[in-house]
Amino acid sequence: MIGKALDRVDGPLKATGRAPYAYEHQEAGRPLCGFIAGATIGKGRITRIGTENAESAPGVHLVLTHLNAPEQGPVDESAMDYWRAQPVLARPDIHHFGEPVALVVAETLEQARDAAARVEVGYDTARGRFDLDARQDGVYTPKEVTGGLPADTEVGDFDAGFDAAEVRIDQHYTTPYEFSLPIEPNACLAEPRGESLVLYTSCQIVDAARASVAATLRMDPGQVHVVAPFVGGGFGSKLSIHAETILAAMAARVLGRPVKVALTRQQVFQLVGMRPRSRQRVRLGAERDGRLTAIAHDVLMHTSPETEYAEQTAATTRSLYAAPHRLTGHRLTPLDLPRGADVRAPGEAPGLLAVESAMDELADALGMDPVELRIRNEPALDPERGVPYSDRHLVDCLREGARRFGWENRPAVPARLREGRWLVGYGMSAAIRGHLQAPTAVRVRLEPDGTAVVLSDMTDIGTGTYTVLAQVAAGGLGLPPERVRIELGDSDHPTSWGSGGSWGAANACTAAHRACGALRAKLLEAACGDTGSPLYGMDPAGAVFADGVVHIGGASEAVGAIAARAAPEGTEAEGRVRHMADDPHYSDYSINSYGAHFAEVGVDADTAEIRLRRMLGVFSVGRVFNPKTTRSQLLGGMIWGVGAALEEEAVVDTRSGAFVNRDLAGYLVPVHADITDVEAVVLESFDGRANVLGGKGVGELGICGSGAAVANAVFNATGIRVRDFPVTLEKLL
Ligand code: MOS
Repeated sequence: MIGKALDRVDGPLKATGRAPYAYEHQEAGRPLCGFIAGATIGKGRITRIGTENAESAPGVHLVLTHLNAPEQGPVDESAMDYWRAQPVLARPDIHHFGEPVALVVAETLEQARDAAARVEVGYDTARGRFDLDARQDGVYTPKEVTGGLPADTEVGDFDAGFDAAEVRIDQHYTTPYEFSLPIEPNACLAEPRGESLVLYTSCQIVDAARASVAATLRMDPGQVHVVAPFVGGGFGSKLSIHAETILAAMAARVLGRPVKVALTRQQVFQLVGMRPRSRQRVRLGAERDGRLTAIAHDVLMHTSPETEYAEQTAATTRSLYAAPHRLTGHRLTPLDLPRGADVRAPGEAPGLLAVESAMDELADALGMDPVELRIRNEPALDPERGVPYSDRHLVDCLREGARRFGWENRPAVPARLREGRWLVGYGMSAAIRGHLQAPTAVRVRLEPDGTAVVLSDMTDIGTGTYTVLAQVAAGGLGLPPERVRIELGDSDHPTSWGSGGSWGAANACTAAHRACGALRAKLLEAACGDTGSPLYGMDPAGAVFADGVVHIGGASEAVGAIAARAAPEGTEAEGRVRHMADDPHYSDYSINSYGAHFAEVGVDADTAEIRLRRMLGVFSVGRVFNPKTTRSQLLGGMIWGVGAALEEEAVVDTRSGAFVNRDLAGYLVPVHADITDVEAVVLESFDGRANVLGGKGVGELGICGSGAAVANAVFNATGIRVRDFPVTLEKLL
């Protein structure tokens, strides 16, 4: 079953609207609706808040402000772990534009929204710091960056190596604020049940949501029941929960009634955090033959002064290419903007835009083919960790991609290929992304009727978790997939690390695979030791599970029959995956996914309109659990990369700290007309060091480097290098 292109098992539910998202659950009857009123200043203090007009508006049940909101758990930095929700309505201070100043709860959404506009707020406005490009004081080095990685690394003597290099590239690149923007905005329906709380919330990690709500509301985690069977995308914005969940939970507790709150799309741009804008300097020193001798990657980003976020933007550079002299570093400067957050391959996505552009610049300076340049710098060992790679196939991806794409047709000199009014160019980029493993438990139960149930608080954020888990369990127990039921996204089930960091499928499937193994052993022990079984006294080592039947030699018995006799309530087993820090494979090897992107663009010779003409990604992710869901993930990631290269950019009004284009009309992402011929191919392998199933992270690999391939194609078409992303047409004129 593993490796089959099974259709999504939740497809019919999704297509018929029977897969409820957080705001749509019907279990709580008719809930009240909350609407968040946000600050209209970027920094300062609330001096006066008038709620009378809102409270007397039709249908209103409650207006919560910092004056009457229940006290929240400690907000000091030491108590705020990575997933912790930000405090909300806790103080009169305003830390960023749009920060909640009130929650209005009414009978209907329209009433709540209307009344929220009647909350009167007086401010004492302070001078805010909103412009990364203007401000350079207060720059500091964070203790570490995301993933617990060091902020700085140094190998060899970079300055000496760079000075001695025959060819040098030293360039600055900037990447913009970007938002995750899944289709389902962040939302929560909170239902009080006595002292407990049921939260239907849109989250990527159920256990983190539970812990966060419990800490913030000072509740026992056992009293918080999180339910998230279907999640309409996340892309990082639901790794932690945000104001909508905290406020819905608070209001439901105050009123003793179910309350639901969803962020509007504009509020998503204010309340969930964004990929920080980055200023990156990349220095490459090489010999004439293309061998890199020195690599440096330095990054400056903002952080909220309230709570630090340091994207690991230069971390990928540590494992990508060989070079004896190396330097990477991250610096932060405080700005009065929302906290930065993980957005679609945090670190690699913006970091590879810069480094893979710089590699293209180096290839151009050397007069060398960019594919060949990368192949010449393939490392034998991870150059900073000094450990071998497990299953590294970057060169295979580069070669196969070049062959399939027809890379030999690339114009060797930029701005030479013209088709009518279009200047045509080819570009490429390498991709790498670290594979992560995190603690995960999955329980599998065999019912007496011969059906299996897989239980975990693991989420399916649209990625295909239900489907791949059905495949693993069906394969592991020898059942047809229709006889496997998957129950996810419920904090009553065994705890996982959910969906994030591209670890979801590998973690959950490995744990499910182990659970199935343990369950098979239990069933065999029961059957072979039971005089009532046709398998009595036989050697379980020779057992085969197929089509719902256990065969040993010539004897057989239905798994359901074994289960029914062994335990009327069903037989179950749990499988676990440990944290990568406790798994020696992850310290002994550098475990990553790889890829190579190839893009062809046309640029209008007069208007500089940029069109993607075709794109190919060739990837190595170890074993593929399901080719359909894998391909979808990779294509989605590649398309994000096209957006990063050509379109996406949230713009800050540097007077107010507001994102001015805070909707999907002003914040551009690729639409169907932008994406024509895009294909993803996987060179399958088996990475037994990653896990027993041999598969690695897929979801975020597609965006790694894909934007650089597009930008490099624009350079090849025009001879113009744009280092300030996105590459928009006015920058080419
Ligand atoms: Mo991903 S940005 O870890 O959801």
